Amino acid sequence: MRILVAGATGAVGRHLVPALVARGHSVTGTTRSPAKAGVIRAMGAQPAIADGLDSDAIRTAVLASRPEVVVHEMTDLAAVSDLRHFDRSFANTNELRTRGTDILLAAAHEAGARRFIAQSFCGWIFSRTGSAAKDETEELDPNPPEELRRTLEAIRYLERTVTASSAPAGIVLRYGYFYGPDTGMFSSAMIDQLRRRRVPVIGDGGGWWSFIHTEDAASATVAAIDHGKPGSIYNIVDDYPAQVRDFLPALAAMFGAKPPLHVPAWLGRLLGGEHMVVMMTQVRGGSNAKAQRELSWRPAHPSWREGFAYAATETMARSSAA
Ligand SMILES: NC(=O)c1ccc[n+]([C@@H]2O[C@H](COP(=O)([O-])OP(=O)(O)OC[C@H]3O[C@@H](n4cnc5c(N)ncnc54)[C@H](OP(=O)(O)O)[C@@H]3O)[C@@H](O)[C@H]2O)c1
Repeated sequence: MRILVAGATGAVGRHLVPALVARGHSVTGTTRSPAKAGVIRAMGAQPAIADGLDSDAIRTAVLASRPEVVVHEMTDLAAVSDLRHFDRSFANTNELRTRGTDILLAAAHEAGARRFIAQSFCGWIFSRTGSAAKDETEELDPNPPEELRRTLEAIRYLERTVTASSAPAGIVLRYGYFYGPDTGMFSSAMIDQLRRRRVPVIGDGGGWWSFIHTEDAASATVAAIDHGKPGSIYNIVDDYPAQVRDFLPALAAMFGAKPPLHVPAWLGRLLGGEHMVVMMTQVRGGSNAKAQRELSWRPAHPSWREGFAYAATETMARSSAA
């Protein structure tokens, strides 16, 4: 099949493009930067240069490659470090999730694509009551903290728009928190912060997070191209949501750091804002039962505990080789 991956150089694209090429698909990958065209070629795909918010450039790239499937993996999170001002840090990504989705979907429609798969998120989006692992029928947070409102609204927009599309047929993948080499969670900055004990557990650390190795996010996307049901949303997460008070000390230990400090909620609120307290104490994760059932997909790393250890080994091997 002819497949266009918008955002081919990102955390998912770097695994997804080679996986699609290996399956015999003819892949076009987009980047904003001519300097990254070589990265896309090296993965066996054809590069196309386009900013996701430039409708002419996207239209040209999509029409030229005549894709049967379009995959939207565009976010703008590489430079994000300020989580205190969350919505401000996510402003470009929110624009890519709203206007960028409209632009890409219109181009995919004009090109006659049959399928459109878009990246969403399975982190802190759910209502903060009930089970630790929410399925796709459960409501999203009706009253998110102020600092998360615009980002949740952009996620709602993307999910509504994509699942309402019939030509091409839209499918949404809600990925859990990414981990693996080349992700923020396993970056040298994060490892440094953990070693300096600058990532505390706030309050009781009872918030539930769902994780996914980026290789598993890519394999689920391949499965969604083959088996996803039109108009569906799938949580793409591992089998075991984890509480902050469990995964943060485990992650620190894997990098030889002392256990994280614990700070009370009032201090967390002062340092990080209400939304950081909510993320560490109240949020819920996702269930992957529907993805397993309908996509015939299983994560290669079903447990974050084993997956973190694998990714930490990979990360440390790379840094000692460098
Ligand atoms: N579910 C999650 O936890 C989640 C989801 C996404 C990202 N993240 C994290 O965020 C960090 C950065 O993610 P990332 O490595 O995927 O990088 P990123 O900066 O978010 O970029 C992702 C892709 O989107 C493209 N892109 C960005 N802005 C664009 C625009 N205006 N128009 C067109 N394309 C655009 C990038 O292409 P070019 O730069 O080549 O143009 C890249 O291919 C990582 O730590 C990652 O783990 C986490």
